[in-house]
Amino acid sequence: MGGRESELVLLDENGIRCDGRKVDEPRRIMIKAGGLKNADGSAYIEFGDNKILVGVFGPRDVHPKHMSNTDTGILRVRYHMEPFSVSERKNPAPSRREIEISKVIKEALQPAVILDKFPRTAVDVFIEVLQADGGTRCAALSAASVALADAGIPMRDMVAACAAGKVADTVVLDVNNEEDQAGQADMPIGYMPNLKKITLLQLDGVLTPEEYKKCIETGIIGCKIVYDLQKKALHDKYFGSGGEQ
Ligand code: CDP
Repeated sequence: MGGRESELVLLDENGIRCDGRKVDEPRRIMIKAGGLKNADGSAYIEFGDNKILVGVFGPRDVHPKHMSNTDTGILRVRYHMEPFSVSERKNPAPSRREIEISKVIKEALQPAVILDKFPRTAVDVFIEVLQADGGTRCAALSAASVALADAGIPMRDMVAACAAGKVADTVVLDVNNEEDQAGQADMPIGYMPNLKKITLLQLDGVLTPEEYKKCIETGIIGCKIVYDLQKKALHDKYFGSGGEQ
């Protein structure tokens, strides 16, 4: 946050952002359901320059056994970034950031899945970030929801995710990597549109109470755009073809 704002024009006099988008315009989004034949469910998402693949396995036996729950199935999530996914090679060992993102995505998906019919089992969600460009947790969470649905896991709703943020004193939809680095705030939101429930809300930066409210409203508009594409991806896999915005 902050620092490079003077060199980079984040918002020009016509209200156009550094990547040519309007303030309320998301990046290009493409979601595909399925694709991995050895997974029980899978999905692939391109969200701007983010490219993320998700495989879901289960419900299946839990190893180690002591992690299992006799009353319900458990959800496990691993978010992993390929070393080549970012411009400066990432160490392949799990970073604190990857552990944190795995945890927040798991907590965001937990209210959506219904695992009480599968006691002593686990549903594993493996997220592979092939290319990162800001907003990977939102893109990964959206793809993970589609992969869980593709695996036939009973769900209350899908979680759709999109960030809002503040750049050049303006609330914008879907913060890209440059805006994340040089802007004033980034707020990733995960939302279940049918249930009208937020399951992920983080904030990096400083906002006034009015901006905070506007960011949530703006982020939810983005989530609804993502939700339509999630449904379309599943529809296309099971009833036809397509999946691009
Ligand atoms: O990806 P997301 O915005 O959810 O999480 P972040 O921690 O705010 O990371 C923002 C961006 O920084 C990522 O999407 C990557 O493009 C970049 N990044 C990087 O270049 N090198 C890393 N080791 C980690 C992140």
